[in-house]
Amino acid sequence: MAAARRRRSWAELALACVGLCLSTAFAVDRSNFKTCDQSSFCKRQRSIQPGSSPYRALLDSLELAPDALTVQLVNEVTKVVLLLELQGLQGNMTRIRIDELKPLRPRYRVPDVLVADPPTARLSISGRDENSVELTVAEGPYKIILTGRPFRLDLLENRSLVLSVNARGLMVFEHQRLPRNSFSDKVSLTFGSIWDKIKNLFSRQGPTEPAEGDGTPDEEAAGKADKPEENKEKDDSDEPGAWEEMFKTHSDSKPYGPTSVGLDFSLPGMEHVYGIPEHADNLRLKVTEGGEPYRLYNLDVFQYELYNPMALYGSVPVLLAHNIHRDLGIFWLNAAETWVDISSNTAGKTLFGKMLDYLQGGGETPQTDVRWMSESGIIDVFLLLGPTVSDIFRQYASLTGTQALPPLFSLGYHQSRWNYRDEADVIEVDQGFDNHDIPCDVIWLDIEHADGKRYFTWDSSRFPQPLAMLGHLASKRRKLVAIVDPHIKVDSGYRVHEELRSLGLYVKTRDGSDYEGWCWPGSVGYPDFTDIKMREWWANMFSFDKYEGSASNLYVWNDMNEPSVFNGPEVTMLKDARHHGGWEHRDIHNIYGFYVHMATAEGLIRRSGGVERPFVLSRAFFAGSQRFGAIWTGDNAAEWDHLKISIPMCLSLGLVGLSFCGADVGGFFKNPEPELILRWYQVGAYQPFYRAHSHMDTGRREPWLLPPEYLGPTRDALRQRYALLPFWYTLFYRAHRDGHPVMRPLWVQYPKDVTTFGQDDQYMLGDSLLVHPVTEPGARGVQVYLPGQGEVWYDIQSYQKHHGPQTLYLPVTLSSIPVFQRGGTIIPRWERVRRSSDCMKDDPITLYVAISPQGTAEGELYLDDGHTFNYQTQKKYLHRKFSFSGNTLTSSSADPQGYFETGVWIERVVILGAGKPASVLLQTEGLLENLLDFHHEAETSVLTLRRPGVHVSADWIIYLR
Ligand code: NOJ
Repeated sequence: MAAARRRRSWAELALACVGLCLSTAFAVDRSNFKTCDQSSFCKRQRSIQPGSSPYRALLDSLELAPDALTVQLVNEVTKVVLLLELQGLQGNMTRIRIDELKPLRPRYRVPDVLVADPPTARLSISGRDENSVELTVAEGPYKIILTGRPFRLDLLENRSLVLSVNARGLMVFEHQRLPRNSFSDKVSLTFGSIWDKIKNLFSRQGPTEPAEGDGTPDEEAAGKADKPEENKEKDDSDEPGAWEEMFKTHSDSKPYGPTSVGLDFSLPGMEHVYGIPEHADNLRLKVTEGGEPYRLYNLDVFQYELYNPMALYGSVPVLLAHNIHRDLGIFWLNAAETWVDISSNTAGKTLFGKMLDYLQGGGETPQTDVRWMSESGIIDVFLLLGPTVSDIFRQYASLTGTQALPPLFSLGYHQSRWNYRDEADVIEVDQGFDNHDIPCDVIWLDIEHADGKRYFTWDSSRFPQPLAMLGHLASKRRKLVAIVDPHIKVDSGYRVHEELRSLGLYVKTRDGSDYEGWCWPGSVGYPDFTDIKMREWWANMFSFDKYEGSASNLYVWNDMNEPSVFNGPEVTMLKDARHHGGWEHRDIHNIYGFYVHMATAEGLIRRSGGVERPFVLSRAFFAGSQRFGAIWTGDNAAEWDHLKISIPMCLSLGLVGLSFCGADVGGFFKNPEPELILRWYQVGAYQPFYRAHSHMDTGRREPWLLPPEYLGPTRDALRQRYALLPFWYTLFYRAHRDGHPVMRPLWVQYPKDVTTFGQDDQYMLGDSLLVHPVTEPGARGVQVYLPGQGEVWYDIQSYQKHHGPQTLYLPVTLSSIPVFQRGGTIIPRWERVRRSSDCMKDDPITLYVAISPQGTAEGELYLDDGHTFNYQTQKKYLHRKFSFSGNTLTSSSADPQGYFETGVWIERVVILGAGKPASVLLQTEGLLENLLDFHHEAETSVLTLRRPGVHVSADWIIYLR
């Protein structure tokens, strides 16, 4: 039966391959998505050339309070007045906020992303002349110079310029205004009717009356801007698209006209910039002059293309700049559609050209300029001044929080497909793992499991007994993840829909009726997750009595939360749809998915009475989404280039806080050949979120369906993952505690090594493992760059030692996953690989000590129960530190505050790069001493200490004599 099924599967696969591989040209339909030219604000802003800014800071209006400086900025063309608020923040950061002084209506300020009001550092005025003010930030090494005309801010550290704001004069702030008569004629709306409309739209929160002005010059200017007939000079309200915008057949009514904001930042000395995910592109950002800017607008992009700056499912508006001396970060807190332009004075110059400049005694200092453009909201930007990249991680984490500590099981392997047909299928897949001795923690159910895609329900013919199915998985110590999408079928017989409709919790159209779009179930409503009442309601839906057929080993997947609207502009929601508080979808678009993720994670916490940690996978995300769980890179394809791009995509996300990232193993669309599947399993084993997933039109591809020569190495890759779980868990604890990415570019570890700055094909896990997976078909070898002067690297398979820096040609076979442990590190493993992580969590640990040329090594291990918040609420955890030096290995507590009862002990210590000792002595808790049995392999210099048998929480010392 199983053999027949296997045969059928491969036959199916072959057929599907003919169908899918030959008939589909895999490419995004670009015409479905806007270019900058088709997004009117981007076009308007981009048409402004660098030059003199119309903005002037009115230095006489400057006010200095203990925690902020405010100053008015006037646009000398329109006379509109803005208010700039500048704050020095503790921990070497600066915040700049710019809003209209007298807005027609409040502008959206992004809530809920910052974990708290950032503590401020006192600003004082340390110098002044007629056109500038010098400010000093208490406890900070830097000064800020505010220049009046044209407005500009310069941040200096020890007299050298680190960053300038508006140095290129590209600041834009499209103030709110009423439409001109001429324009209103065009759109057949009278001034009065528009004003009435605005008043109606905002009656829920109380409209802000147009400023009257009391005669002071600045207020008069602000008041004039509100009176269109007096606002004579040409401004952006003349532009096409300013008051109504069409894209294909979709009209955006834009009742408030143009409201975009933009600002430029100059980074002298910087040539390498990173971040602003999500893009399917190289890790190091490219110059965008002459091409498209990078776009941040959460979108469901069918068959996304690689190596371009088009928007994808999530957005994190954070950019990092790096050079060999320092790092900087810019966090642009705006949830509207955003475009980022990058230019550089060295772009296009070859290394040779740069050298020539240098030899000729000239050549400009390299400089990168970054220009942010958003459709609405205010300018709210955090300058993260490092100076090191780990400072940037810490600074950003202090603002938006750190990666949630995942339950241990979620770091294991996840088996998904769209769809597992029925309960019998799930049970058979579960059994398949045991039959083939392959570890697996989770089986996933996609949209077909629900009754007519009514989430929170089950298709009763295919899943009649979900609790029994979940019970069966629980008996195997495995979990289930079920999809719960944030679009709700419009169906009067569906309780979820009926309640949301009657409670008025759906997103509304601009006319106030429930917004309806088209998604998997047909006609759907979109819950308004920006409303806390909606999030509460949603979170409560996960209680076991409401979500019938769910149990404590069911976790959740939020998909389509950009939100995806099949019949909407760019496959998403109309920008003039209305959210709670009267905000337009335009204002909140990029944060919608963040809120879905937040509410679902909260639901899973609540259903356990606050005890259990949640696991929620989300496709859309924003700054701060790391607090809620995992994300993945969406609908990739079974192509080698898609395998490759998973590395820079996850690295980029890790740099901006989202460590729990993965790509669909095997590729979502199309049918991978066995070699590609195998290589993907190997890559995934060393990426944070490890899930195989595939489209419903693809052939089945559970690992055991692979031909035997591929199955063996695939099983090995999965087993390598499981053996390293204590290491992964410890890395996640670090990410959770300090905000350091789990998976990081080499330059984070080697900030002065320019060779590493553009690397997309290799990376570090923590500071210990360097991974350079095989991503080429038919590979016979890989070129691995091993960095670090005086560094040594141990191949974790052969234990061969290599010196850095060098580019090593490493021959590979089908089973090779080139991974190197850095000399100077110690990593823990669970070497008794079992059915699932839950079966291994009490297993003994093996320590791998990789000795540095100085004869030292350090490492750590974090352990807790793997699933509750007791590590937080009751300090039930163990954080151990291991150090090797002077031929002595010591285990001590890294954090005496934590204590956790466990039976875990140390069963083996493997020391790489060790000589043969005469004897090995173990001393426990300062008292007992025993001789340890050991084995030394002269050829590889590997010393294995057998059965130290010490408890993991004990303090002990091992002496090599
Ligand atoms: C789109 C998701 O990206 C994909 O992973 C999923 O299988 C389908 N939606 C169906 O739910």
